[in-house]
Amino acid sequence: MPLMIAPSILSADFSNLKADIDMINKSEADWFHVDVMDGTFVPNISFGFPVMKALKEHAKKLLDVHLMIVNPDHYIEEFKKAGAGVLTVHYEACTHLHRTVHAIKHHGMKAGVAINPHTPVHLLSDIIRDIDVVLVMSVNPGFGGQKFIQHTFDKVLKLKQLIIENSAKTKIEVDGGADLDNALPLMRAGADILVAGNTIFSSPNRLECIKFLKDPL
Ligand code: DX5
Ligand code: ZN
Repeated sequence: MPLMIAPSILSADFSNLKADIDMINKSEADWFHVDVMDGTFVPNISFGFPVMKALKEHAKKLLDVHLMIVNPDHYIEEFKKAGAGVLTVHYEACTHLHRTVHAIKHHGMKAGVAINPHTPVHLLSDIIRDIDVVLVMSVNPGFGGQKFIQHTFDKVLKLKQLIIENSAKTKIEVDGGADLDNALPLMRAGADILVAGNTIFSSPNRLECIKFLKDPL
C-alpha cells in the first residue's frame, strides 16, 4: 500500500496561499496538513480560523488539523465548522483524553492523538482502539524544516505492534523532517500517512516530489 501524503501548509507561501492550495489539489497528495499553534503548548504561533476559512473554501481534499494548543476541548465544535476532517490533539495537552477523543468523534470528525518525541507509545495502550490516527512527532513540535529524529523508527514499529495486538484499525501518521530518504523506511516500519512540509515546498518539482513520497519503492 502506498503512503498517504499530507503536505503541511505551514511551509506554504502565505502571500499566495491559493496557488499552493491549487498545487496540492492537483497533486497526488491525500490530505492537507494544517498546523495550529498557540504560543503556549509550543514556542510558536501559526494561524487560526481565518486561514482555515480560506483553506476550506478552496481545498478539495480532507483537512487534517494538528492542534498544538492547550485546552483543545474548548474549540472542537469550532474546528468542525472550520472544515476539519481529522482533528488531532496532543496526548500531552489532554488530561481527559478519552473524553476529548469521543467529543471529536461525536462532532463527526476522525480523532487523532499526537505524541511528542519523549512520549512512549505504550501510554496509548488503553485508548488505541478509540483513536483513528496516531500522529507520531518525529521532531519537537513548533517549527517546520527541523531534523528528523531517528528514534521515530522504533516508535513506529512499537506502535504498529500495539495496534495489531489490540486488533485496532488505527492509522499511523509521521510528522516532521520527512524526506526522500526516510519515506521508504518509514513505510516499511508501518507508517500509513506521511506529513511533509519543507521537503515538498522547497522542491523544484513539487508534484513529482509528492508522487515520489507517496510511492517511494
Ligand atoms: C511541526 C509541525 C509539522 C511541520 C512539518 O510542529 O507539526 O507538521 O509543519 O514540517 P517539515 O516537514 O518541514 O518538518
Ligand atoms: Zn503537524
